[in-house]
Amino acid sequence: MNIDELKSVANAIVAKQKGVLAADESNPTIKKRFDSIQVESTEENRRRYREILFTADGIERHIGGIILFDETLRQRTREGVPFPRLLADRGIVPGIKVDQGAKALALCPGDKITEGLDGLRDRLAEYRQLGAQFAKWRAVIDIDERDLPSPFGIRANAHALARYAALCQEAGLVPIVEPEVLMDGAHGIERCEAVTAQVLQTVFAELDAQRVRFEGMLLKPNMVIAGKKCVRQAGIQEVAEATLRCLRRYVPAAVPGIVFLSGGQSAEDATDHLNAMNAMGLQPWQVSFSYGRALQAPVLAAWKGREGNVGAAQQALLKRCRLNGLARDGQYARAMEDPS
Ligand code: 13P
Repeated sequence: MNIDELKSVANAIVAKQKGVLAADESNPTIKKRFDSIQVESTEENRRRYREILFTADGIERHIGGIILFDETLRQRTREGVPFPRLLADRGIVPGIKVDQGAKALALCPGDKITEGLDGLRDRLAEYRQLGAQFAKWRAVIDIDERDLPSPFGIRANAHALARYAALCQEAGLVPIVEPEVLMDGAHGIERCEAVTAQVLQTVFAELDAQRVRFEGMLLKPNMVIAGKKCVRQAGIQEVAEATLRCLRRYVPAAVPGIVFLSGGQSAEDATDHLNAMNAMGLQPWQVSFSYGRALQAPVLAAWKGREGNVGAAQQALLKRCRLNGLARDGQYARAMEDPS
């Protein structure tokens, strides 16, 4: 492990005004996104869509890294340039999702465990050869009204995240550690904060026990937010305060950056929350984004699978990148959402 190399890649991904574009939807997930705009999920349509994202002019000003899916890492532009090379040439660090999805955790009804550790060392070596410099693994933690998540569900996921992160660092890839507490459900913001606190505490204890170097990783957490079905939705400032309070208690200062997932928030809310946190002053780590839906939903809506809409789709992406870049500095205002 070359820790200086890992640190420099991690820092490049969360450089000033930059964040991450999560474009690593698995085939079943991208099919859902394409279904919503009546586009068939063929290999060529998936390639073309990702090409539209990756060639949008100017995104490199606000995008430090892009997470790819296995299929995409192996695809090329129309001109034959491999996607990882295209990104690297634009100054964007190529990354790869390496988990294989969440399954039911045996004997723990309701809890999920993320799979993909078997054979991971060999896969990481191949991904590095293909040009990936960082990786992502997502653990899924669901909250219900009673006993979910179980303490064992949290521990099992933290253990898997740490095994993944250690293998990444051994292979020279920066691990993005993503323990996602879901925002589905009717729980209030207080419950989300309590569960997120427990999850982060457990994850960092496991990372430490498994000798992961905090300086050479990034954390991709949920924001502390009320469940979608909760009758009392917290305001922007309340979310920002609860999230930073929780992170400051449980995330070591050695971690170079926090890159939030959007988790089903609207594009505007995700930007507003990020902005409010950065407006609260400097934190021990960079406070940035790794959004999937909050960057891509407006792009899909503009594109609709039509070549004639490619310019508008790329403009929609550029707009979200620019606004989130401003939010990284606490310089965003909701009024900027007006059509420009
Ligand atoms: P969302 O921002 O859509 O939650 O996606 C981020 C991600 O990569 C989830 O694993």
